[in-house]
Parts: sequence; C-alpha cells; structure tokens
Amino acid sequence: MTHPAIRQPKLEILSSPEAVADKAAAILSQKIASPDAVIGLATGQTPLPIYARLRAMAQSGLKVDHLRCFTLDEYYGISPAHDASYHRFLKTELFDPIGLPQDQWSVPDGLADPVTETARYEDEIRKAGGIDIQLLGIGRNGHIGFNEPGSDFTSRTRLVALSEDTRLANLPLFPQGDHVPTHALTMGIGTILEARSILMVVTGESKARALAEVMTLPPSPDRPASALKLHPDSIILADRAAAALLS
Ligand code: GLP
Repeated sequence: MTHPAIRQPKLEILSSPEAVADKAAAILSQKIASPDAVIGLATGQTPLPIYARLRAMAQSGLKVDHLRCFTLDEYYGISPAHDASYHRFLKTELFDPIGLPQDQWSVPDGLADPVTETARYEDEIRKAGGIDIQLLGIGRNGHIGFNEPGSDFTSRTRLVALSEDTRLANLPLFPQGDHVPTHALTMGIGTILEARSILMVVTGESKARALAEVMTLPPSPDRPASALKLHPDSIILADRAAAALLS
C-alpha cells in the first residue's frame, strides 16, 4: 500500500481578518472566473467577510453563469428554512445576492434519510466533475466541516455526532430557546481531500492552538485539519492573532 506524501500546507500570515478575506476572495474569484468552476463552500463567521467581497464583485461584473457550488455540511434534523440552517446561511449570504440559480448550488438536506442523502451528495459532486477549490474554516478543536477529532482521513460524506464543544460554539447562531442539533451531515475528510485545491481561512486567537497543532504536529485524525498535510495543493491564510503561537 502506498501512503500519500506528507507536506506542509502553504501558510500565509496576514495582518488582519480583512486582509485574509481580501486574499481569499481574490483566490476564489479567480477560480469563479474560469470556465465551469466547481467550488466548495464553508459556513461559520470566518468566511462572512469573504462572501461580502464576492457579493461586491458580482455587483461589479463577476459572472457566475457556469459556477457550481457545494456546501460542506448541514445540521441533521433541521429544515432548510430554519434560521440556523446552513442552507439558509449560504442562500442569504452568497447564493441569492450573487444571483446563483438554485440548480447551481447544493447543500445536504438535513431532513432527508441520511444514508441516501449522503450517498446522493457524493454522487452529485462526482457528476459535477469534482471540486476545483474547497474553502474551509477550522473549529476550535481542529475540526473541518463537521469532521470532529477521531474522524478517519478516508471518511466520506456521512452522518456524524457533534462534540459538546462544537455545539456550544454554535449556540449563538440558534434562535433563543432552540437547542443545537446533536448530529450533522458533513463531507468526509476523504471527500474534502479529493478537491483539486484547498483554501483554509483561520482568524482570531480562539483558533491559535488548533492552527499551531496543524502546523507543528504530524497529521492525525485527532486533529482533523492536519489532513491538509496529505493534500498536494493546500494553502492556509491566517491573521496574526490566529498565528500567535507559531514562531
Ligand atoms: C462550524 C462549521 C465549520 C466551521 C466552524 C468554525 O462548525 N461546520 O465548517 O469551520 O464552524 O466556524 P467559525 O468560522 O464561526 O469559527
């Protein structure tokens, strides 16, 4: 059996979250401008300023006619119309404002049968020709998508249980009185690693430990984001606060 080579992701440390967003939006818009681009997108607070920039670029002429988008993950058991669903998040923050028609973007359906839905999602990505560039954030515990520590590097899109830390981190996004779902559907780490390139954005001191562990420790399922070390073309854009524990 051959093992993929281990390599250090390319790390760029930028002065601020705004600088990270500028650079990430420039990289993504360049892909979007290429014919038949397939882009994987992430949710969370970190990518919000990137989406603001992409909205502005669409206003000033960036074409999305042939763009195809896939979202990393979705909460299990909540409807696409729910205030905290990732379907709604991306529809509101990006897809509707840039005028991307509904048949050009996909989010796993949190209400569908999880086994059928996750197989269907993988199939849809395959039929689109695979993902050209996958945007990723990182959880405080090093998760990517909703692949929590312990997720196999060969894992595929599937139903996963959320850790207490992740549920707590996502609590502010749920309407008061609502509980954070215990499970989610997420692209697997193996699925993510099949993207032709990976762009991770990391901002703020709450991510400093997770980023330092990715950069300084060997790849391990205990640190899901360290799977980037098995990818031939990955770049991490971090602001100074997130890079604080790196020398
Ligand atoms: C959620 C998402 C991840 C995201 C993470 C960090 O768990 N499933 O894809 O990277 O949050 O979010 P934030 O950028 O808000 O810190």
